[in-house]
Parts: sequence; C-alpha cells; structure tokens
Amino acid sequence: MFHTYGLLTFAMASVAIGSTVVILKRFELNDMMAAVEKYKATTLLLVPPVLVTMVNEADSIKAKYDLSSLKTVRCGGAPLSKEVTEGFLEKYPTVNIFQAYALTESNGGGAFIDTVEDSRRFGTSGPLTSDVEARIVDPHTGRFLGINQTGELWLKGPTIAKGYFKNQEAANETINAEGWLKTGDLCYIDEDGFVFAVDRLKELIKYKGYQVPPAELEALLITHPDILDAAVIPFPDKEAGQYPMAYVTRKVESNLSEKQVIEFISKQVAPYKKIRKVAFINSIPKTASGKTLRKDLIKLATSKL
Ligand SMILES: *[C@@H]1O[C@H](CO)[C@@H](O)[C@H](O)[C@H]1NC(C)=O
Ligand SMILES: *[C@@H]1O[C@H](CO)[C@@H](O)[C@H](O)[C@H]1NC(C)=O
Ligand SMILES: *[C@@H]1O[C@H](CO)[C@@H](O)[C@H](O)[C@H]1NC(C)=O
Repeated sequence: MFHTYGLLTFAMASVAIGSTVVILKRFELNDMMAAVEKYKATTLLLVPPVLVTMVNEADSIKAKYDLSSLKTVRCGGAPLSKEVTEGFLEKYPTVNIFQAYALTESNGGGAFIDTVEDSRRFGTSGPLTSDVEARIVDPHTGRFLGINQTGELWLKGPTIAKGYFKNQEAANETINAEGWLKTGDLCYIDEDGFVFAVDRLKELIKYKGYQVPPAELEALLITHPDILDAAVIPFPDKEAGQYPMAYVTRKVESNLSEKQVIEFISKQVAPYKKIRKVAFINSIPKTASGKTLRKDLIKLATSKL
C-alpha cells in the first residue's frame, strides 16, 4: 500500500469501480489461493516472482484450490518475460495476463495493457497511458533514441510527481527542469508504441564494458525444469570488472550442478552474457511486495571475499 501499484491500482481503483477487495495480512501463496476460492476472486494483482511460483507449483495449486472464478492477472513491478507468460498461460489457459508499467513517482502514468488482444503481445507493458509523453534516452550521451533502441525511459505529463518531500536535491536529480522524470529503467519502445522494460539501469552488470541485464538471464534460468527460482547479480572481478553470478533455488529432488547451470545458459546467450559463477540457496530473498532483493544477494556474495 506504500507503492503506487498497491495504493492506486489495487486499493483505490478497485473500490472506485465498485469491486470488492480482499486484503491479506501478508503475502503467502496458499493463503492467497484459499482466498481466491473462498471469495471467488476474479482478479489478482501480482509481481513477476509470484507468477513464477504459480507456474512451478501449478499442479499442486490446481489440485488443492478451485480457481475457476479467476479471469485476470495484472502484473507489474519488474519485467515479466515472454517465457514466464507462456508458461503461465499453458498452466492457466482461462486466465488473461495484463501487464503494466509505472513508478510511484509517475503515479498512474506509464504504460498498461487493457485489451485481451494486446495482452497476447508477450513481454510488453503496453502502450503509453493517455496524457503521458515518453522518451528513450542514451544514459551516457543523453541522445534521444529511436524505435527498438534500448535506453533510459523518461516520462512527462500531469501525473508526474512534483518532487520529493523536503529533498530538493533528489528531486533535481530525478526530474529535470523541463519536467521529464528519469525513471532509472532501461526500456525500448517498438514501432506500434508498446513499451518493453529490460531492467533497472543501476542493476545492469558491466562485463568488460558490455552491459548484461540480469532479468534476461533470470528469465532463461527459470525455464530449466530443475530450477524453482533464480536471481542474477554482478560479481566483482579484477579483469572483467564484473561478471554475472546466479543464485539458484533447485527443486527438492534435484542435484543440478554449478557446471550444468553454466552450460545451460552459455548455450543460449552471447559469450559476454555467460553466467560464470553459481551458488545454490534455499530461497531467493524478496521484498514485502514480492520483488527480488538483488542487493541482499550482492551483500551475501561479496561478504565472503
Ligand atoms: C523493431 O523490432 C521488431 C521486432 O524485432 C521488428 O519487426 C521491426 O522491424 C523493428 N523496427 C525497426 C524500425 O527497427
Ligand atoms: C535544484 O534546481 C533548482 C533549479 O535548477 C536550483 O535553483 C536549486 O538550487 C537546486 N537545488 C538543489 C538542492 O540542488
Ligand atoms: C543426479 O541424480 C540422478 C538421478 O537421481 C543420477 O542419475 C545422477 O548420477 C546424479 N548426478 C550427480 C552429479 O550426482
């Protein structure tokens, strides 16, 4: 409720259109599924890691709970890959996924999908919301980029925040004199105006000067049948600067090795994107809203150096 997603989309918008809202004390997958069955919920508002769990545990979830009331899943907060979307629709074929993109600083302004037809364009957050202008900017040169080119997304419009309370310095860094909000998100926009989020600019891994978006590698990792969940972080290296390291949660019965994980990814990506180190972990740390806490894993990995 302290983000635009929880407050505006979930609590306020639902009430404004006359819906009943079911609120859990804290996120727990089984409690959520039990609530869907009990209240015949039609819509779930989720973040990508929760969708991943719903795909991995689909068989046991569907055996335990009657989810026939569920029609729509709305998803935002982090990039949702094509692979996860396809996996979800295979397991829950009667549910539509609607993605959205916004920041607390942009309030409702950003991009969202509101038609079933658009929801079939996997990986996009949708076209821009009305009244919002967007630019894709090269973060190093400040040059405006064109169709399909990846850079930082800037937004402008009446919903953009005026600044940060009692912090003019932070406001100056984030919102420029012309009112453009620098989102800190790496995105591209296709020919039809659909916005695709790639990753957080600050969380890009810089391998020998090449940029590697961890979200892309995470999306590939979780397609492995033995992998329940994964997070990718930069690992410091004298020669390369940084290289991609993966934290992986295996399925209980799996004995998947570091070497197998490394090979699985190296077959699918350019050489500079290869994962070069793997650690296994019981669960990937998440925020209260279910987003992956890469910074906690970075601390864990580097504390052992
Ligand atoms: C943008 O990318 C799409 C999908 O790869 C491609 O079909 C389209 O031709 C590209 N357009 C431009 C202008 O590069
Ligand atoms: C913020 O920007 C305004 C306008 O450019 C400037 O006058 C002000 O001194 C800046 N404040 C801080 C704290 O950087
Ligand atoms: C992993 O488990 C499989 C089946 O249980 C077994 O055949 C294989 O030898 C194991 N591999 C390793 C590296 O322990």
